[in-house]
Amino acid sequence: MIELRRVSKVKDGKKILDDISFRINKGEFFIIQGESGSGKTTLLRLMNRLEEATSGEIFVQGTPIRKIPPQELRRRVILVFQEPRLFQGSVERNIRFAPRHHGMAVDVEALLKAVGLEGYERRDAFSLSGGEKQRLAIARALALKPEAILLDEPTSALDEASKKEVEKLIVELKETHGATVVMVTHDLEQGRRLGERGIILDKGKIVYQGRIRGPENV
Ligand SMILES: Nc1ncnc2c1ncn2[C@@H]1O[C@H](COP(=O)(O)OP(=O)(O)OP(=O)(O)O)[C@@H](O)[C@H]1O
Ligand SMILES: [Mg+2]
Repeated sequence: MIELRRVSKVKDGKKILDDISFRINKGEFFIIQGESGSGKTTLLRLMNRLEEATSGEIFVQGTPIRKIPPQELRRRVILVFQEPRLFQGSVERNIRFAPRHHGMAVDVEALLKAVGLEGYERRDAFSLSGGEKQRLAIARALALKPEAILLDEPTSALDEASKKEVEKLIVELKETHGATVVMVTHDLEQGRRLGERGIILDKGKIVYQGRIRGPENV
């Protein structure tokens, strides 16, 4: 569904990503692991065209993304940032905003139920807890019926209880909604517990590629 072929990224003369190739299959739970600064966020940003690769090519369903208009790409492949970027106003407003822009209908009640935020329609988005904000960001992404959802360290800022709730939701995304999920995490244990396949980055290079699940790996 998403394929990278020999992708490199140079910034200010520094190689941030070096010859990265991998493929993410439809419906897969794909993990990107690596230490801080290894290039994980940059990789997601390239997949969303928030930055352009210096060389190499990225494909979505076989089409090079440089041929897909950014707005269309960002509806089909949605990036949820580490710090959810919510708009001022109600939870409902946050969910309706992007679908309206794309002329899509949205069932706010069903979406909030799916992420465990039933009855939150009128709450001020900024008044939510960290875990609730992350779940709202995921509901907002789901409203656009994406083909894939890219999550950048969705639980790193959360306490244990909220982390478990967000993890449960992410697993459901895949199992109930059949979504392709790409999750960045520096938490090896979390990666093994939730993921199926993935890569490990070290200073911009892939140092492992393959099965992630299970304690015997890495
Ligand atoms: N404009 C820039 N110029 C030079 N280096 C940059 C620039 N932007 C990012 N970098 C460097 O690129 C590397 C990769 O950054 P990136 O944010 O992708 O890492 P990351 O794996 O997501 O880290 P973290 O786990 O801390 O979020 C880092 O060393 C960072 O300092
Ligand atoms: Mg990062």
